[in-house]
Amino acid sequence: MRKNIVVANWKMNLVRSDALLLVHEVLSNKADNISVNVVFAPSYPYIYKVAKLCEINDNFSVSSQDCSSRKQGAHTGEVSAEMIASCGAEYVILGHSERRIKFNESNEQIKHKIDNALENNLKVIFCCGESLQQRDSELHFDWVEEQIKESIFHLSKDQVKCVTIAYEPIWAIGTGKTASAVQAQDMHHFIRNLFEKKYDNDVSDNLSILYGGSCNPNNASQLFSQKDIDGGLIGGASLHSDKFLAIINSF
Ligand code: PGA
Repeated sequence: MRKNIVVANWKMNLVRSDALLLVHEVLSNKADNISVNVVFAPSYPYIYKVAKLCEINDNFSVSSQDCSSRKQGAHTGEVSAEMIASCGAEYVILGHSERRIKFNESNEQIKHKIDNALENNLKVIFCCGESLQQRDSELHFDWVEEQIKESIFHLSKDQVKCVTIAYEPIWAIGTGKTASAVQAQDMHHFIRNLFEKKYDNDVSDNLSILYGGSCNPNNASQLFSQKDIDGGLIGGASLHSDKFLAIINSF
């Protein structure tokens, strides 16, 4: 059975005290009867503390927002997958479009990051998604397929079971413009088929595919009720406990 997952991608927001208060509010108010794994993705300095707070509830865990493509050594400012794992994180988000665009991350570089993460027993939340121009030119399926093939499809069947996909159309991120439930479902279905063709049913049936891009309390339940949508990667709305809780409770 694949898992329902909701991830709070805080990006470069929240000072420490606000971050810890937000975690506390979400932990103490999540409805017990909802079966969903909640993942907080804070900035690096808070990972250890947020992971400690999450220890009290098996359904909560922590992700980093990135990791280095290098393993260790003289790389000032970089943070390795091994360091992130040693601070108690369970996941790492890789290939977010903000990293691809603002930091020129290529599919090849993301592939190395994925390998480092898996070597250190971190699970990967792999982001993919097209620009508006690509969608308008009907290149969105080809583009997402290329991203997945070039960064993921070298993995073995056992390794790929540690990967979650987040489909995030770039035109929907932080814009208030959400993909319709039909647009998102079509792409999720396409992605699941790619994994079935490359691996098998066992892999594709158990693959969690999250939607990200202006997901909010008003559209979450419609998105999450689609057959191939298993949760969300939430940016802006994850910075407010009431909105984030409403999204978690949308299953
Ligand atoms: P958004 O961001 O929810 O603010 O659109 C999603 C993301 O970038 O992960």
